[in-house]
Amino acid sequence: MLEALRKAATNPTYHRYPFSYQTDYREAIAAWYGRRFDVVLDPATEVLPLAGSQEGLGNLGLAVMEPGAVALVPSPAYGSYSRTSRFAGGEIHLMPLREENGYLPDLSAIPDEVLSRARLLWLNYPNNPTGAVAPLSFFEEVVAFARQHEILVCHDNAYSDVSYDGYVAPSFLAVDGAREVGIELNTLSKAFNMAGWRLGMAVGKPEVLRALAQVSFNTSMGLFGPLQAAAIEALTGDQSWMVERNQIYQQRRDIVVDGLRAIGLEPLCPKATLYVWAKLPPGYTDSLEFSKWVLDQTGVWLTSGMFFGPEGEGYVRASVTTPTDDLREAMERLQSLKL
Ligand SMILES: Cc1ncc(COP(=O)(O)O)c(C=O)c1O
Repeated sequence: MLEALRKAATNPTYHRYPFSYQTDYREAIAAWYGRRFDVVLDPATEVLPLAGSQEGLGNLGLAVMEPGAVALVPSPAYGSYSRTSRFAGGEIHLMPLREENGYLPDLSAIPDEVLSRARLLWLNYPNNPTGAVAPLSFFEEVVAFARQHEILVCHDNAYSDVSYDGYVAPSFLAVDGAREVGIELNTLSKAFNMAGWRLGMAVGKPEVLRALAQVSFNTSMGLFGPLQAAAIEALTGDQSWMVERNQIYQQRRDIVVDGLRAIGLEPLCPKATLYVWAKLPPGYTDSLEFSKWVLDQTGVWLTSGMFFGPEGEGYVRASVTTPTDDLREAMERLQSLKL
């Protein structure tokens, strides 16, 4: 990727405005979706390059929401879904993700009054912060639900390629009818360890991608060509190194799950994502107080669940992005806590 970036940087073509030469990147995204998810995309209409999936998250609210419209947002969830839905004056309705339901939302629990105004449904599997994954049967249910209530679905698949124990995450678009009701966001940040490069994509329903592109055209005007060249290299080149990378994360996941369990927390052992979601020990309810106390006692930060929405209260999230030796030390320090 670095070599592709270096080489492309000397090509004068790439010093022009970038929207005129994004075809190759679109084609590389379509090729990756075909190879990785068995989803065939038309690069011209069903693919939109983005500066990270965050560009899509941030702009989707502006593209489709308006005062009076409601966005259905999971709780707990990555914070941007609520924020972007409110940017254009929309309201949000929180859908609890509960352990007993496999951290999937109960779509049948959404009140009719909300459904009549619902415009956008946010989903994210593999899920941040819970680490939960969704079966294809759930995506099928979502497509039927979205059709029935004429709701647009945005599935955030940012963690599709950080997975463990042989689990392979699907694309929402692999389900029949999904591309008629929604879009999927994806990114090179997690799959390819390229978070700083700001390379992502939206794929799916052409009409929604056009609306997203209109907002983006007014804010960013495309990606610098040499970055696109590096992305093409990543998406179309050898990806066997991801196996070893995921083994490293998996080892860290096990260290964290064991360490948290040993001090009385109840961690979910995730099949994917960079996170371990853990219920506070019996007797503890305030996740922010707990996180601060643990930080004071040990110098280890566990992110308080309340940061991810009201249903996150009572939980903390640990991340496996820290180097393995530091994580080991963190877990050792936690063992000194008097819980
Ligand atoms: C669930 C989720 N979606 C999207 C993003 C944004 O990723 P990026 O903009 O780097 O693609 C993140 C970043 O942590 C995330 O956790």
